[in-house]
Amino acid sequence: MSRITYVNGRYVPSREAVVSVEDRGNQFADAVYEACQIKDGAIIDLRRHLDRLDRSLAELRIVSPMSRAAMTHVLREVARRNRVENGYVYWQISRGAAPRDHAFPTGVNPTFTATAKSLDVAAAALRYEKGVPVITLPDNRWERVDIKTVGLLPNALAKQAAREAGAFEAVFVDADGFVTEGSSANVWLVDGEGRLVTRPAERGILRGITRSVLMEVAAAEGVPVVERRFTVAEMKAAREVFLTSAGAILCPVVSVDGETVANGAPGSVAATLRRRFHDIAERTPI
Ligand code: PDD
Repeated sequence: MSRITYVNGRYVPSREAVVSVEDRGNQFADAVYEACQIKDGAIIDLRRHLDRLDRSLAELRIVSPMSRAAMTHVLREVARRNRVENGYVYWQISRGAAPRDHAFPTGVNPTFTATAKSLDVAAAALRYEKGVPVITLPDNRWERVDIKTVGLLPNALAKQAAREAGAFEAVFVDADGFVTEGSSANVWLVDGEGRLVTRPAERGILRGITRSVLMEVAAAEGVPVVERRFTVAEMKAAREVFLTSAGAILCPVVSVDGETVANGAPGSVAATLRRRFHDIAERTPI
């Protein structure tokens, strides 16, 4: 089955989906995006992702090309046409195509594209069962990582460094020695008292939707959450460490820079939160 991509009003076979060479997403990373998990035929937490998209668009002063209702329709349709039951839907909006000039063009329409892809469920299950290794790297990104832009070159280079080191994810560390986040996930630890610790989202990280929902799951489970910065040393000494993102929801970390976390196996807090996550997350059936 050929994959289907939505591009500026049309559903086309992916190999025929094109945007202009002079699209500002292509030349300036002048674009924002979102990705939602699709689980058992439903888009997960779409409302919150659309809220964050509105915020990202407002920060860049890009006007959304369609209403939320229309966007929801397109995303469901893309998922449906690609027959994705479990996977993710990805969509991005750029400022549009115009002759190359750094300043904003006038009178252009934003470019809207959306794709959906099935997930390798077995590989994800194995990662969850065994946990994953991570490495740490200096955070060399711009200050506005709170905006979900496609300007992800430092993230891509960090993920590649992780792969080459035999790790699954790279965790960024700020100039003061505190963990910010992974190249494509938020980072959490469970401290010696059984509290969940994660960095405040005011600075230095993307406010993950999975992160926000997990806080509700933790509250429902009676697990205390502390929002504070933490160091790499604290991560290595933690009872548990895990990553959260829409793609994988929650992925346990079992080693940091080659040093084993706790007993080197995924922990029980991670297991509980992951099991309960979809009881609290919102579902938009495809
Ligand atoms: N990444 N931090 C970064 C840098 C991310 O790229 C992501 C998500 C997150 C987690 O956010 P959320 O829980 O809303 O997915 C945190 C997506 C999945 C991606 O780029 O594919």
